[in-house]
Amino acid sequence: MSTTIPLIDVAYEQPACPTRHAWARVPQQPAPGERQRLKEAIRALLRERNAVMVSHYYVHSDLQDLAEETGGLVSDSLEMARFGRDHPARTLVVSGVRFMGETAKILSPGKTVLMPDLDATCSLDLGCPADEFSAFCDAHPDRTVVVYANTSAAVKARADWLVTSSCAVDIVADLHRRGHKILWAPDKHLGAYIAKKTGADILPWKGSCIVHDEFKALELELLKDENPQARILVHPEAPADVIALADAVGSTSGILRAAREMDAPVYIVATDAGLLHKLRTEHPDKLFLEAPTAGNSATCKSCAHCPWMAMNGLAGVEHVLRTGENEVHIDPRLGERARLPIDRMLEFTARARTAGAPGAMVPGIGAA
Ligand code: 13P
Ligand code: SF4
Repeated sequence: MSTTIPLIDVAYEQPACPTRHAWARVPQQPAPGERQRLKEAIRALLRERNAVMVSHYYVHSDLQDLAEETGGLVSDSLEMARFGRDHPARTLVVSGVRFMGETAKILSPGKTVLMPDLDATCSLDLGCPADEFSAFCDAHPDRTVVVYANTSAAVKARADWLVTSSCAVDIVADLHRRGHKILWAPDKHLGAYIAKKTGADILPWKGSCIVHDEFKALELELLKDENPQARILVHPEAPADVIALADAVGSTSGILRAAREMDAPVYIVATDAGLLHKLRTEHPDKLFLEAPTAGNSATCKSCAHCPWMAMNGLAGVEHVLRTGENEVHIDPRLGERARLPIDRMLEFTARARTAGAPGAMVPGIGAA
């Protein structure tokens, strides 16, 4: 991105995953005066450009709050897609990772979709190249192809169904009831979780999220021992032994719902630390602790924050609104094919909502 945004040079790297470039592009926090100026400028530009902000719960709290304050949305990836499609604004500013901007563009080809940094990707997307995935599908033509939202448009274009973590269990359970065998990609942990919940025959791709993969069951148990009254909330991209300790498993919106429905004073949260902003704002009387990553015995430093989500900042939003740079483009024919599984997901979840289904939050699947 050709901007004048100041960058942090981060001397921090997980040896096993190449995130150095992402961390190096995480924008520096603006000084208080500059922060106010950027927010003012963004408010004015949103009005001038007939634009709306759509932010994920993992991006900086400023981008979450500003989206809500200006009539936009902060949400999970499913609701980001639905909101972007249905909102009348002609320009969507998507703060999140690349697949979220691409999904918005696929659903609204006539709108302008801008992102603060187009290189904000996702380890699941990176770990599932379209040509290799296509060969995998070709080798198993008897299986219904279900892919996670965290994938490229080309991978979506090979799919029969798209799911996010908030509807994956419900959609696969329905397919399983109707006799489908599933080919699943890319998250192996989410795939194993769905298979366990539904009993479906699932052939998985072997991708993982570098953030959720870092949560460690042993360290989590130690923290729970120190806080016996705490409830454990886990995103299903985490490993199975971490999920096994959970009092509730759910998407980002599922975790928020669990915190609303439970009355414990303390929670240990195993997902990206960005979600803590919303949890703490909604429940100032409750204590939210980050679930431990790596731990004392680990050989590498890690943290529960997605480097690609961290690439989004106020200066980037202001820049793209002012210049129109960083527009998301999708080949129209690819977009048309990729839209089919997304539409199926949106129709399924809209029907489930009308029927009053509780959503994907699953309390009480812990070790007990
Ligand atoms: P949600 O769909 O739960 O918002 O998750 C998106 C994501 O990237 C999780 O790592
Ligand atoms: Fe991808 Fe994980 Fe980042 Fe979510 S948190 S965008 S799954 S790398």
